[in-house]
Amino acid sequence: MSEENQWGSRLGFILATVGSAVGLGNIWRFSYVSYENGGGAFLIPYLVALLTTGIPLLILEFSFGKKMRGSTVLAYKKLKKKWEWVGWWPVLSVFVLLTYYVVIISWSLKYIYYALSQAWGANPEAFFYSEHLNLTSGIESIGGINITILLSVVAIWFINYIIVYNGVEKGIEKASKIFMPLLALLMLIITVRGITLPGAVAGINKFLEPDFSQLLNSKVWLAAYGQIFFTLSVCFGVMITYASYLPKDSDIVNNSFIAALANCGFSFIVGIGVFGILGYMATQTATPFEDVVTQSIGLAFIAFPKAINMLPAFSTLFGVLFFSALVIAGISSSISMVEAVVKALNDKFAWSRRKASTIVALAGLLGSLIFTTGAGLYFLDIIDYFNMQFSIVSIGIIQCIVLGWIYKASKLRDYFNPISNFQIGSWWDIMIKYFTPIILGTMLILSLISEIKEGYGGYPISGLKIGWIVTGLTLVFAIILNNMSWQEKYKNIEE
Ligand code: PHE
Ligand code: NA
Repeated sequence: MSEENQWGSRLGFILATVGSAVGLGNIWRFSYVSYENGGGAFLIPYLVALLTTGIPLLILEFSFGKKMRGSTVLAYKKLKKKWEWVGWWPVLSVFVLLTYYVVIISWSLKYIYYALSQAWGANPEAFFYSEHLNLTSGIESIGGINITILLSVVAIWFINYIIVYNGVEKGIEKASKIFMPLLALLMLIITVRGITLPGAVAGINKFLEPDFSQLLNSKVWLAAYGQIFFTLSVCFGVMITYASYLPKDSDIVNNSFIAALANCGFSFIVGIGVFGILGYMATQTATPFEDVVTQSIGLAFIAFPKAINMLPAFSTLFGVLFFSALVIAGISSSISMVEAVVKALNDKFAWSRRKASTIVALAGLLGSLIFTTGAGLYFLDIIDYFNMQFSIVSIGIIQCIVLGWIYKASKLRDYFNPISNFQIGSWWDIMIKYFTPIILGTMLILSLISEIKEGYGGYPISGLKIGWIVTGLTLVFAIILNNMSWQEKYKNIEE
């Protein structure tokens, strides 16, 4: 079947890519990662990572996707048959990410409901772990499936399915045109509320004051680079896929800068709002800022309910708006992940969009099950760590080598410069060929060393094994899929 997908307009593409970029990462992940790294200590590494690696990689993926006009898998296959697996690996890793990303969206959905009656009561922390998650004492006891979480996971998968099933222009683009303006509005309301609370300024200072003493701390740099990858959706096969639907003469450089700056601007503004609210909490409870939140991964689900409890007025409304923002941001990202997987299957096996999206949604739902159990949070934490620190970082390195050295960065630059308004100089080649792979290589080695030396997160080895298994499986499956035969149309296609 031939399915010629294309964005209806440039604005549609921008909204969809910004929709993919702006997600749980900007609200839930960004706030806890920057909080863990002391706020101000994080900002400089974050901006450096954005300029040296984030934007160059976005340009790389936009131009590669647009040039090859296909899913990540077809794009690499067109480059050379033997590189096809380099396209499958991110597709499989993003599928793994999807299985738990959807679960976090579903928590947010449940929290909209909780917010209506402030069901979390006086102790949102206990509520999150015991009532909401039904968390077991450790990863070794799995506990049962939590039915209401499961139901909301089904709902979120279903929404994703409907949108992607309707196609690029009628599904994804249309949804983005509704979601993104709505999200911008919600963000403004949340931030304005955050910065007008008493004590907010102290929190915002924490966020903005650079802490130069931390610049030598490799942990902060690792966190910043990891966050940039995650937040820009690069190295996941997503941006390559989205760019393949661009019309012929689309400007690559401009679009990359717009998407990256819109995404980071969003994080920045939300960050001000979140830190403002944390500052308010610190003042109200007379707690040192560093101790306002104890469990960082749950920042959005613990600190926010606490803050909502303390709000002088409209607290119910504020809670509903905040968790709605999480749901909307989350879905506009998860649809981009689903699309990357669906399009890959569609290209390779000639599965129709309907067939591919049905299979992906059902398989994804099955994968999500483990995260709805009493040990779900532990699995999520471990699998996310391995997926990001090992798979995605390795994919980034391989992608830079294959596209920068073998295909040649200069060749790609000669392709995107003529169709772009701004011209990118040879600094870009240096970032792609040397700087980014060296940084990522260092990250990989540092994570491996720390994993071998101290494990991760205090989990038993038996628990960490699951991280290695999942990571290993994505690679094994990438190779298996690489060796399966292509649909007739693309069988002998090479650039
Ligand atoms: N960028 C999204 C976020 O910040 C997450 C994402 C990762 C989306 C990978 C697509 C692909 O939440
Ligand atoms: Na993001």
